[in-house]
Amino acid sequence: MFDESTPTGMRSNLTSYGDTEFALFLRKAFIKGAGYSDDALDRPVIGIVDTESGFNPCHGNVPQLIDAIKRGVMLSGGFPVSFPTISVHESFAHPTSMFLRNLMSMDTEEMLRALPVDAVVLIGGCDKTVPAQLMGAASAGKPAIQLVTGSMLTGSHRGRTVGACTDCRFFWGKYRAEEIDDEEIAEVNGRLVGSVGTCSVAGTASTMAAVSEAMGIALPGSATPPAVTADRMRIAEETGRRAVGLATERLTIDKILTPAAFDNAFRVLLAMGGSTNALVHLAAIAGRCGYPLDLDAFDRMGRETPVLLDLKPSGDHYMEDFHRAGGVQRLMLEIRDQLELDALTVTGRTLGEELDDAPAPFPQDVIRPREDPIHSGGSIAVLRGNLAPAGSIIKQSAATAALLEHRGRAVVFEDAEDLAARIDSDDLDVEADDILVLRNIGPVGYPGMPEAGYIPIPRKLARAGVKDIVRISDGRMSGTAAGTIVLHASPEAAVGGPIALVRTGDMITLSVNDRTLRLEVSDDVLATRADEVVERPKPRRGYAKLYADEVTQAEEGCDFRFLQDPDPTTPVPGHVPGAVAGPVAGAN
Ligand code: FES
Repeated sequence: MFDESTPTGMRSNLTSYGDTEFALFLRKAFIKGAGYSDDALDRPVIGIVDTESGFNPCHGNVPQLIDAIKRGVMLSGGFPVSFPTISVHESFAHPTSMFLRNLMSMDTEEMLRALPVDAVVLIGGCDKTVPAQLMGAASAGKPAIQLVTGSMLTGSHRGRTVGACTDCRFFWGKYRAEEIDDEEIAEVNGRLVGSVGTCSVAGTASTMAAVSEAMGIALPGSATPPAVTADRMRIAEETGRRAVGLATERLTIDKILTPAAFDNAFRVLLAMGGSTNALVHLAAIAGRCGYPLDLDAFDRMGRETPVLLDLKPSGDHYMEDFHRAGGVQRLMLEIRDQLELDALTVTGRTLGEELDDAPAPFPQDVIRPREDPIHSGGSIAVLRGNLAPAGSIIKQSAATAALLEHRGRAVVFEDAEDLAARIDSDDLDVEADDILVLRNIGPVGYPGMPEAGYIPIPRKLARAGVKDIVRISDGRMSGTAAGTIVLHASPEAAVGGPIALVRTGDMITLSVNDRTLRLEVSDDVLATRADEVVERPKPRRGYAKLYADEVTQAEEGCDFRFLQDPDPTTPVPGHVPGAVAGPVAGAN
């Protein structure tokens, strides 16, 4: 990527006028208009990706982070320059943030290619931003370091600690079941988010923060400090300092994002009971590096990886508790023998060397020891069968144990609009042991694969006290959600996947033990039904058309085909070392 003859600093990536000296002369003239001296302009240029947006409260501390990063860069002799890219927040991204993730990755990649930066600090946080930044940075190939904005503080509602967004769903479920009234739901709405920062549970943001640290693309100890703390600002300053080191050492991102690094990321994802979305994002980032996801190897890794983190929704705690308990380093120490310790990190040292110097463990009740996991293995299980030949997943650590082996009658919803129109109807023909099926919410189908896979419990069942029901879809769900929910059924309905052929009344068998998802309809009948499927309209112009034409399925990361590395090499995860020692507990 880089060699000694590659121009650096202000001399790199000059605009093409056919005269490089003139291009440099012009560039310096313009930037001197901002008051910079030649001394500043001669230093390593550290780009800082500014993702502040008035529509992104998860990034509300970005201005303070930029100040701290700049301080760190200048203390190390670099020249910091911030620049904006798209910023995507979960609740301000119609039709869904996933739709915009690839656009943000393209923005990030092309700005890194275009600008004269010797290294870059990526400030991300809200769910899709860190994946987008790592996808773009991996393709751009420059030295890069990730800094997350950090989690929000928890709030308090009538004496109970609450945080977004597991508790958002908990209270909304109670409201739908008419267990709380209009006054209380309005009151709790103002309590769930205690400050700026990312969701305070094991949602996608927290998971991507943790796996970034595990991959070595973020500093040790950087994943868990909450957004508004002094710890977070000190991490930002240190990140700026280290970015100068990355620039001078020309430690490019391909040396960090290796197959070993991805193995560590998958391992930590499983051990923390992290978001199912992280699997899609890791597949996308790895795909940019030429490492295709091996779903079956991921499932094998899961079977021997215990869930040790007692964090909502699989457990009871919040991100600030995880931080006080020692954070990602403490978690990795528990599974040290299952990690690729030779993987290089952005510090210039290996993961093993960093763990050797990690703070000494102390008694706490958030990160469990190996012999006392909160779930015995496979927080995310991969299911196959005639309903999902290319795979589907279930977060069994956040499911109801009694429903993991289940046979039930399908109740089918054609799309998200059909679901919204009928789910609360008293006339809906549904029983507690039925299986809800929602289709046409896949990557192409919606488009953007919305987090609508967390199908609400039908109101008539919720009123009757039903807390969980088996649900299947070709969409995603938030990492903050819980339930017996099969996701990412692939291929999706919109590209001819068999989930398009299910009819209300069909029987479906789910067996997480056997890793199967089976529609009890003969191949002949399914072939007849396939002939009757009416193709749905697709976007005809703009980014939506590009998206629908080029997006891949979930197991390929939902990236655009033309953005993936065209010459894939090593599948990941590839290393699945020894099985878990010690006794294992049953599903919670
Ligand atoms: Fe931004 Fe949850 S909404 S992390």
